[in-house]
Amino acid sequence: MPQENYSMESVSHENRKFNPHPDFAAQAHIGSAADYRQMYERSIADPEAFWAEAAEELDWFKKWDSVLDESEAPFFKWFSGATTNLCHNCVDRHLAGPNRNKAALIWEGEPGDTRVLTYQDVYREVGKFANGLKQIGIKKGDRVAIYLPMVPELVLAVLACARIGAVHTVIFAGFSADSIRDRVNDCGAKCVITADGGWRRGRVLSLKNTVDEALKGAESVTDVVIVKRAHGDPFPCHFKEGRDHWYHRLVQDQPIECPCEEMEAEDMLFLLYTSGTTGKPKGIIHTTAGYMLYTYLTMKYIFDLKPEDVYWCTADVGWITGHSYIVYGPMQNAATQIIYEGAPNEPDEGRFWEIVEKYRATIFYTAPTAIRAFMKWGDQWPEQHDLSSLRLLGTVGEPINPEAWMWYHRVIGAERCPIVDTWWQTETGGHMLTPVPGATATKPGCATVPFFGIEPAILDDDGAEVDAGILAIKQPWPGILRGIYGDPQRFKDTYWCKWGGKYYFPGDGARRDEDGYIWILGRVDDVVNVSGHRIGTAELESVFVEHKDVAESAVVGVPHEIKGQGLIAFVTVIQGRAHDDKLRTELVEMVDKSIGKFARPERILFSSDLPKTRSGKIMRRLLRDIAEGKELGNTTTLADPGVVEQLQRQYEES
Ligand code: WTA
Repeated sequence: MPQENYSMESVSHENRKFNPHPDFAAQAHIGSAADYRQMYERSIADPEAFWAEAAEELDWFKKWDSVLDESEAPFFKWFSGATTNLCHNCVDRHLAGPNRNKAALIWEGEPGDTRVLTYQDVYREVGKFANGLKQIGIKKGDRVAIYLPMVPELVLAVLACARIGAVHTVIFAGFSADSIRDRVNDCGAKCVITADGGWRRGRVLSLKNTVDEALKGAESVTDVVIVKRAHGDPFPCHFKEGRDHWYHRLVQDQPIECPCEEMEAEDMLFLLYTSGTTGKPKGIIHTTAGYMLYTYLTMKYIFDLKPEDVYWCTADVGWITGHSYIVYGPMQNAATQIIYEGAPNEPDEGRFWEIVEKYRATIFYTAPTAIRAFMKWGDQWPEQHDLSSLRLLGTVGEPINPEAWMWYHRVIGAERCPIVDTWWQTETGGHMLTPVPGATATKPGCATVPFFGIEPAILDDDGAEVDAGILAIKQPWPGILRGIYGDPQRFKDTYWCKWGGKYYFPGDGARRDEDGYIWILGRVDDVVNVSGHRIGTAELESVFVEHKDVAESAVVGVPHEIKGQGLIAFVTVIQGRAHDDKLRTELVEMVDKSIGKFARPERILFSSDLPKTRSGKIMRRLLRDIAEGKELGNTTTLADPGVVEQLQRQYEES
């Protein structure tokens, strides 16, 4: 059953409803509930016709023989026989018409430096970068790891890979050296693209040094490309002759022209590692044609994108949101977008609103965690800025509690802007459940209705339809993951075994209300969503047990006022060993080293034992009760009920 978090409790009393503003609906791509319903019904009744028609809006080198091939399900094939290229559709396609010199990327660095690249500029820069990659021996199918701050070269690197058919795997710049090494080794990356450093909260974080550390023990990497961002200050950047290349030197004499690789529909586009229920992150595979179409179409309809919009997604390209809704979705739609490098409170808590005002942003897409932080910082920050350019707001990554939704609606949206609460995953490629902004009446905290072609169901463990239970998706859609890199069995076991291979299992709990709207209730597995970042409790547990003094550990997620969920670690120490602050500090350092600082637990509690069933299974439900200060649930199945009472006392006293 769904993990109880506060959003579940508060949403069950929520009955406010907001119709799309008539002015918004009048100009929207989809301007009424009836239009949405008609398109939706068509997309479900004849998905192949629906997707084939949408695909005509994009460029293909060769058209498809079939739209959907289910013969090797769950390894679905979309647009078999077709060839195309994502970079062509994001860049080259726009050069013939009025978008040639339209701003593609309006970039602002944390220290306040800015750069603007038009589509023509992006074409030039990507062409040179792609030729540079070819020069160092990168070719179609090779894996390229990208570990960069939010600078324009991050987008250029992704597009350059797509252009030559190299498979990119972007690693969020908050990950540690160990995490980089694991990912690079898992996919056998040949090249890493990084920077000397990047700005965060007024400081330069060294990235190249972390990569150097990571590459001790990563034999597959032959070349490293370094973007100069921090200019060696305060970190001198070690340079390994023969392996390392400065980006600016590599590209300076390259020709602009670099023909796009003709990619088969199911050729791999990228890998993105995400957490699951075991200690080992999984490399989610996305391929070319289906992902391309799905990000293109969701971008167009869910953000109601128009040529004059100034779009801003505050995610990092290191997560799926940045892949789909910074690089591929917006650029296929020839959007003008803002990219910001740094923290929302640098130099002060008004930075985001200053950026909205400065560039007259019209669409703003962020995470509930950020919204809760803005709420806490106070209304005076947004009030100091003119936010009247905004016409649409979005949220993603975790359930949004109604209080945060209402604040967003009132203070940022001036009760005028629709809010799209988009539920989706790394695995789904793009939006799955979300309001369609000109058509769907919204409810605070509710992801509402399915996107076109998406048929959700709420099921119990046996596959029977229920009002509250586990979310399932009945039919494949173009953006669905195609596998887990190197582990087809794990792919089947994780996503397709729950109901005998019939439906996709996303791992979230959900409930349907009287209007048929779907409310997401949080994860039903051992994945915790901290500030919108997925962390497997097993990942942390396997870090802790590596410490020589630790016998066992159990990590649970609990509600957190700002982060949505926080992590609480219960750790048992080998008898006779000290459990003190020194050990606590060492365990935190191990998390920093193995995963990254963002995965640090809120609290680490030492205990002599953990509550277990007679068969030896740790009862996490009871640990969650303890961490949330709740009445303890049923303890009769425990091998030793005394353990849990002692733990509870200890927790309250600590
Ligand atoms: C959660 C992020 C409620 C959910 C795009 C999902 C959400 C996981 C929402 C995927 C939302 C994402 N409402 N929960 N609007 N969006 N989630 O792979 O638990 O980083 O399974 O993709 O985030 O996280 P991921």
